[in-house]
Amino acid sequence: MDHFNLRGGVLHCEDVPLSNIAAAVGTPVYVYSSATMRRHVQVFREAVAALSSPAVAGEGDHAQHGGGALREPLIAYAVKANPNAAVLATLAREGVGADVVSGGEYRRARAAGIPPERIVFSGVGKTEPEMALAIEGGLFQLNLESLEEAETLSRVASAMGRSVPISFRINPDVAAKTHAKISTGSAHNKFGIPIGDALRAYGLARDLPGLEVQGVSVHIGSQLMDLAPSRAAFEKVGGLIAELRAAGHAISVADLGGGLGVPYDPAAPVPPSPAAYGQMVADVTRGWDVRFAFEPGRLIVANAGVLLSKVISVKPGAAGQFVIADAAMNDLLRPSLYDAWHAIEAVAPRGGTMTADVVGPVCESGDTFARDRVMDRVEAGDLIIFRTAGAYGATMASTYNSRPLTPEVIVDGSRWALVRERREVEDLIPEIIPDWLGPQ
Ligand code: LLP
Repeated sequence: MDHFNLRGGVLHCEDVPLSNIAAAVGTPVYVYSSATMRRHVQVFREAVAALSSPAVAGEGDHAQHGGGALREPLIAYAVKANPNAAVLATLAREGVGADVVSGGEYRRARAAGIPPERIVFSGVGKTEPEMALAIEGGLFQLNLESLEEAETLSRVASAMGRSVPISFRINPDVAAKTHAKISTGSAHNKFGIPIGDALRAYGLARDLPGLEVQGVSVHIGSQLMDLAPSRAAFEKVGGLIAELRAAGHAISVADLGGGLGVPYDPAAPVPPSPAAYGQMVADVTRGWDVRFAFEPGRLIVANAGVLLSKVISVKPGAAGQFVIADAAMNDLLRPSLYDAWHAIEAVAPRGGTMTADVVGPVCESGDTFARDRVMDRVEAGDLIIFRTAGAYGATMASTYNSRPLTPEVIVDGSRWALVRERREVEDLIPEIIPDWLGPQ
């Protein structure tokens, strides 16, 4: 569910007409709904609430709300999905933690007020300065990707006189049945350590100074539309936890990653609900006796955002017509990169439909948002939106074709604010002409 609806013939975000935002800020611009983000946090929290484990007296982060007797699962929002400071601040106020994969994301999470004990550090290639930054600031857990990384972290932590709670990210060799570019849990993917090597890795890590073996983590992919691969992966992780405990490791955390799919195309099969996902996790993990962590990204923010754009022209072609938008592949890369489907709608529908290829102004044919799309009839100057653009939208934008990064707006009820400014292209190009080429 989201908060982008037609009211009086004009699409609103919550109580704000999108046309008002376009008039004030210009286009293209990303617009986010605070209410949708909050709702998705609440839905996910309810879906996994039954997994709460009894709190151990004296342990760090108790229930995220209210500090009750039960410890709720840690919901560590995957910052990569949408790292805008206002988005993070909105989620921080909901008591959500962060899954970060770089020093930059760690700093963003902390700056937005996310406490260190709710930050998980994932990522396939962490540098020593990134490790040091997170150790210095504190964190819930660092998910290791290899034994070499364990050795490096041990060296960095020991030199700082500190100890870091760790897990290994397990590669369970399960095909996630999603787009190949966002599948991460098969043996040929670069992520994690092979499950068959895990026992040995934990054994070696236990003896390394500066590491506290705490958990096991897994993440098999994104936009998952079927629960079976996750179930298969979690079953393998359950077996591993039992083996690790039998070998004397105190495993107290299971980080089950993110990945649950969201609806993009209303005509396509719907993804499993968060409640069904929570039920599946509860079934598979019965008796694990761990604190759970989850790393949802897309689920929290995807439907909370749209890319608002203006039609530059409608151009007839030999085989059909083109709607040329002022947004392009540099603003929203997903259709070009993953053949992703985003709903496209007029902000003030004129009535009637048309069939068109929707494209941007960038100079390559890959700059296509949709082919042969049946959509609201539009004319030059009309505003349109690309839906479900709150996740992996603005964050994957580039300045290709020397187009400035897309600004971002957040709405909360009838209030709205510009949360990333539109910049002139000169501000974005920190390029330097060397002396020998200097003034003509
Ligand atoms: N945890 C880890 C370790 C991850 O690598 C990811 C996403 C997540 C959590 C969050 O997954 P989510 O709940 O958002 O599915 N740019 C692509 C998606 C890449 C996802 C990468 N990892 C897209 O636009 O579809």
